[in-house]
Amino acid sequence: MTTISLSELEAQLATLKQEATKAIATANTLQHLEELRVAYLGKKGQLSQVLKSMGQLSPEARPRIGASANEVKEALQEAIASKLKDLQQAQIQAQLESETLDITMPGVYRPIGRVHPINSIIDRMVDIFVGLGYTDATGPEMETDYYNFAALNTPADHPARDMQDTFYLPDGNLLRTHTSSVQIRYMEENDPPVRIVSPGRCYRRDTVDATHSAVFHQLEILAVDEGLTFTDLKGTIKVFLEEMFGAELPIRFRASYFPFTEPSAEVDVQWQGRWLEVMGCGMVDPNVLKAVGYDPEVYTGFAAGLGVERFAMVLHQIDDIRRLYSSDLRFLRQF
Ligand code: DAH
Repeated sequence: MTTISLSELEAQLATLKQEATKAIATANTLQHLEELRVAYLGKKGQLSQVLKSMGQLSPEARPRIGASANEVKEALQEAIASKLKDLQQAQIQAQLESETLDITMPGVYRPIGRVHPINSIIDRMVDIFVGLGYTDATGPEMETDYYNFAALNTPADHPARDMQDTFYLPDGNLLRTHTSSVQIRYMEENDPPVRIVSPGRCYRRDTVDATHSAVFHQLEILAVDEGLTFTDLKGTIKVFLEEMFGAELPIRFRASYFPFTEPSAEVDVQWQGRWLEVMGCGMVDPNVLKAVGYDPEVYTGFAAGLGVERFAMVLHQIDDIRRLYSSDLRFLRQF
C-alpha cells in the first residue's frame, strides 16, 4: 500500500485551489460555471478525490489536512458565488440592452375609423324611439312576396307594386322594398301591445340619380295598442322630428296613400327652400291586423317608414345621395 505524506497532500490541495480559482475566473456562462462547481466540489469532484487519500495519513496529521481542505472548499465556494453574481448581472444587462427603447424612432400612424354617417343617423333615430319606449326589431333583406306585399294588403295585381319594383331571385323571393315587412314578422310572433323600431337596408329597381339609389335605408316604426289614434301618430312624429332637427324646422303632414295604412300621410320638412319628403305613415289598415291574427275591433295602430338617406341629406347638407355610397374618405371624414 502506497502511503502519501502530509506535505504531498498539502501540495495537491494548493494546486487544486490554484487551478480551480483560475478556471472559475474564466467561466463565461452560467452553465460552464455549474460544470466547474460539479467538477471541483461535487460528490465525485476533485476535492473529494483528494480527501479520500486522507485515510492514509497518521491520525495526528488528519485534522490539519481537514482544516486545509475546508479552507480550499470555502474559498472555491466563495469564488463560485461571486462569479455567479457577476454572470447573472451580465445576463440582466444584456437583456436590458437588447430591449432598449429607441425613442428617436419615427412614430407609426394608425388612422382612426369612424361610424359611417348613415349608421350614425340610424343610431340617433333608434335612440330617440327607444327613449319613447320602442324596442329594436329586425327582419331579413331577402323576403317572400307574402311579407313584403301580400300581408301588407298589397295583392299581386295591386297597382302600388309598380312603385316598388324590386330585384327578384330565381326562387321567387325578392329583395325587400321597404322595412314594412318587419311589421308582419314581428306581429306574427308577438301579441299586442306592440312598439317596435326597425332600421335596415332596402332595395328598388330605381334609376340612380341625386335623390334615388337602388340600395337605401329605411327605419320602420310600428305601434299597436287599444285606443291608438292619428293624434298619437302625429304627436310621436312631431316629438321625433323636433329631437332630430330642432323645433325650428318647418314640417307638414300631407295626405297620401299606402295599401297598408288608412288614412295615410307623408311628412315633409323644409329643405333648401322646398319641401322634402322624409317619411310615409298612417293608421295600420285593418286588413294588415287581420293578416297577423289581431282583432281590428279591439286594436288600432300607427306605422311609419322613414327614409334614412333623406335625413342624412337634411342634417349634413348633402346634395347628392350617391356621395353616401362612394366610399370617398375625403367626403366621409367630414362627419
Ligand atoms: N313602406 C312605405 C314605403 O317604402 C313607407 C311607409 C308608409 C311605411 C306608411 C309605413 C307606413 O309604415 O305606415 O314607401
